[in-house]
Formats: sequence, C-alpha cells, structure tokens
Amino acid sequence: MRPAADPTARPTSSARDLATPRAERLTSSPIAVLEFREAMSRLGAAATVVTTDGPAGRFGITASAVCSVTDAPPTLLVCINRATRLHDAVLANGALCVNLLGRDHEALALRFARRGTSTEERFAGETWRPLVTGAPALASAVVAFDCRVAACREVGTHGVIFAEVVGLVFTEKAESLVYFDRAFHALGAAAPAP
Ligand SMILES: Cc1cc2nc3c(=O)[nH]c(=O)nc-3n(C[C@H](O)[C@H](O)[C@H](O)COP(=O)(O)O)c2cc1C
Repeated sequence: MRPAADPTARPTSSARDLATPRAERLTSSPIAVLEFREAMSRLGAAATVVTTDGPAGRFGITASAVCSVTDAPPTLLVCINRATRLHDAVLANGALCVNLLGRDHEALALRFARRGTSTEERFAGETWRPLVTGAPALASAVVAFDCRVAACREVGTHGVIFAEVVGLVFTEKAESLVYFDRAFHALGAAAPAP
C-alpha cells in the first residue's frame, strides 16, 4: 500500500528557480550539476594548497575539499580531480602535504588553481621545505599537514584520498583563508569574551 501523502510536504522547484531570489527554495531530484555547485558555493571551506614530491614528480593544486576524518590515527580526507596532474603523482609518491593558507595567500591560491600552469610557475616566489614524506610544505602556511596516503577510492571524477598525518608544522596563529560564495575571505580568531 502506498503511504498517505504527507500533508506537511512542500512543493518542489526546479533548477531554473536558481535565478529566482527567494528566501527559501526547495529542490527536485535528480539534482542538476549547476544546482549542486550553487549549493556548494554556500558551504565555506578552508583554502589549501595540496602538494606532493617524489619519484613521480612535484605538483600542487589549490584544494578546498579537505576535512578531518579521525584523530586516531590522525587522518584527513582530500578529494582530488583525477584529471589533475597532482592526482596520479600523489598516488605514485604515496605522500602529500596539505598547506592551510592564510589571509595573504589569495594570489598563491589563484596561481595553484589556474589550469595548465607549470609546476615551476606555481611554486615560484615562495619558500618550500620538504617534510618527512618529501612533500613540500609552504613555509608561511598557517599549518602544514605532512601525510602518507592510506587509501584511495574513486567517486565520479575524483579520487577520495585518505591521508594519514605523520607531521605538523605550525606558524604564528594567523588569519585563515576561506573560500565562500565563490570568493576568498580572511577568517580571524574569535575575540576574547568581555
Ligand atoms: C577555491 C578552489 C578550490 C578548489 N578545490 C579543489 C579540490 O578540492 N579538488 C580538486 O581536485 N580541485 C580543486 N580546485 C581546482 C584545482 O585547483 C585545479 O583544477 C587544478 O589546479 C588544475 O591543476 P592542473 O592544471 O595541474 O591539472 C579548486 C579550485 C579553487 C579555485
């Protein structure tokens, strides 16, 4: 038997409604790519540069699809498009470094996001130090997470990489760079309570 219609259910709307400014919008299924991207633009995320180095070479890209999985063992999840040069190199090198960007790193973030820019061009003008895994850490990063690849699973266009953190480098507590609403924003520490 079909369940009775939910009297509290509200009508759905289509991706076309994205152009309509409304305080509240409900969506239909399946989700359109543009609609998903619009939704994701509202999810603020830390801006990072993910790097690798080793037998497969040195590469880096700007990435915001980075989050914590667990602290035992300390593990990050990093989603890398399989079409990037970084993806295969990370898996072959078995190592990556997540460099958390600060407020002065917007130009750097744009450089590491520009398709096809050479590795030399991307890494130029900054100080990089190889960490224990060999992956380059940005000397001025708010925090650098030195990681070994623990596992990788392919989902759609991306490799979802589980990266075990084997080293951390902190700098002075600085404002962090966040990507939200298709723009970079600096985020500072909370002011102490009065
Ligand atoms: C703010 C921002 C966040 C990004 N986040 C990711 C990400 O999490 N994963 C990813 O694969 N690409 C991400 N990109 C796109 C890559 O930086 C871009 O495709 C990459 O630099 C291309 O590198 P390639 O020319 O070496 O292939 C992001 C771009 C920007 C501007």
